[in-house]
Amino acid sequence: MASRVATIDSAVLSLESTTPPQWVGVVESNLREVLFDHAHCEKKAAAAATHLLVSYVDRPEIVRALTPIIKEELDHLELVMELLDQRGWRLKGQAPSAYGGRLGLLVSRTEPDRGIDRILVSALIEARSCERFTLLAEGLADRDLAAFYGRLLESEARHFASYLRVAECFAPLPIVKRRLAELAKEEARIIALPDPLPRLHSTPER
Ligand SMILES: [Fe+2]
Ligand SMILES: [Fe+2]
Repeated sequence: MASRVATIDSAVLSLESTTPPQWVGVVESNLREVLFDHAHCEKKAAAAATHLLVSYVDRPEIVRALTPIIKEELDHLELVMELLDQRGWRLKGQAPSAYGGRLGLLVSRTEPDRGIDRILVSALIEARSCERFTLLAEGLADRDLAAFYGRLLESEARHFASYLRVAECFAPLPIVKRRLAELAKEEARIIALPDPLPRLHSTPER
């Protein structure tokens, strides 16, 4: 019997596009490289949240919201490292997808817009990760690995919601929503750009 997967709608995640289903096949054909990328993504998620905390450490409500995210991303890193260990794969450095760097170019250079943009870009990365983990949880032939992604996607969805609440520390909700919609359109354009590297946030060339 197929296990049930908690699915979270793209619209709830504010995403403006959906990942093509053939992406799961790319992951299965390049599993080691994608799991290495996953480990690096969890490391970068923890680092990005830590950088935000350092930038706004004088604002207790932001510190309170970011601390559990940082802890959970480090837990995720540990879980992916265990997964690699079980397969006898030792993590090494590799080129990332172009996705994160391209999203970073969207961030305003001046405050308070800069703070909102940094947080909303993090929120959208969480949302895209959640969407793709849902596809893996549903589609991977390796059902143990599928179950692993089924467990992770719920915390990435929670991180997305937490980041939206942090953004409200900088601006009222209507302004946050308007900027989120602008950045989500750009994120959909960026994730669709062909990228030959098999990664969590790349799209195979057709
Ligand atoms: Fe994570
Ligand atoms: Fe996350």
